[in-house]
Amino acid sequence: MGKIILTGDRPTGRLHVGHYVGSLRRRVELQDSGEFDKIFIMIADAQALTDNAEHPEKVRENIIEVALDYLSAGLDPDKCTIFIQSQIPELTELTFYYMNLVTVARLHRNPTVKNEIVMRGFEESIPAGFFTYPVSQTSDITAFKATTVPVGEDQLPMLEQAREIVRKFNSIYGDVLVEPVAVVPDNETCKRLPGTDGKAKMSKSLGNCIYLADSAEDVKQKVMNMYTDPNHIKVSDPGTVEGNTVFTYLDAFCKPEHFAKYLPDYNNLEELKDHYRRGGLGDVKIKRFLCAVLDEELAPIRARRSELQKKIPEVLEILRKGSIEARKTAAQTLDEVKAAMRINYFDDDSWVKSQTEKYNQ
Ligand code: TRP
Repeated sequence: MGKIILTGDRPTGRLHVGHYVGSLRRRVELQDSGEFDKIFIMIADAQALTDNAEHPEKVRENIIEVALDYLSAGLDPDKCTIFIQSQIPELTELTFYYMNLVTVARLHRNPTVKNEIVMRGFEESIPAGFFTYPVSQTSDITAFKATTVPVGEDQLPMLEQAREIVRKFNSIYGDVLVEPVAVVPDNETCKRLPGTDGKAKMSKSLGNCIYLADSAEDVKQKVMNMYTDPNHIKVSDPGTVEGNTVFTYLDAFCKPEHFAKYLPDYNNLEELKDHYRRGGLGDVKIKRFLCAVLDEELAPIRARRSELQKKIPEVLEILRKGSIEARKTAAQTLDEVKAAMRINYFDDDSWVKSQTEKYNQ
């Protein structure tokens, strides 16, 4: 059995730097490591519809945005299969069978879904599809026999549920499915990059996101308006680094070599933080540094995006071909699942024979 990656994102908006440090950057590294036999990257449109049933156009319009973000961040269609979830009907079929292996009470306990229900104001009327999306996510993962799922930390409960369903399936029907392992960022800051306003999470509705597709000018403006330490008023004031968004972003993006290039008075981030704590270091200086650091990472992504935007038919072809390719793998797994469940009646000669014999005695 090989090492296989499956992961994906809901196409409800462009991807931002939180997605990037939380998972996308890691996927590109894993892709380039050459350690994986197969890599599947899924645009989870069917899952996006579970809480956007009334806004199909929003999901549809964002397919291409997410695809452009993937490709410009460095996912390479020669090394990974990028596909659209809804184009793989086998995933829905698997979900229907997995649904029997999980209880409503267990679904209620999923902390991410619990949170999302509150955030979306669904307490009174949860769409059944939304409530059960962790089961559909199990189909996404197991259809490709994924061993490794690089995701943001908020997805850990989905992985736990997937593992439980896999164990249950295998214990009833025999060893067919593979238990996946999540890969989350090891850097604490990357697990939960806050919005530019210092709020817990980046979200489009709060307007606190830096998008991968933002222009250099937009990024600069967002950094200059970033939340810092409200008590650090004069340059000479001692400042706080914890909860200071500029430092949080530096924790996520800054590498030691950035200092020699952009801020040679310091050797590393610790020295910069110490100076800020002592006082005598102004916010504008650290913000300018962050702009340079971000630009180094985002400029190549931006440049690739503007090239790709000139070749949309090629990008769509990548998705079309990827979906055909992904479907083959999912269909193969579905066949194995149905055989294990003994509902592959007409492929099963012994079943056909036994049904005849039953009345032929
Ligand atoms: N739930 C993920 C998100 O909100 C998207 C997703 C759907 C996914 N299916 C998946 C992620 C399977 C990893 C594996 O972004």
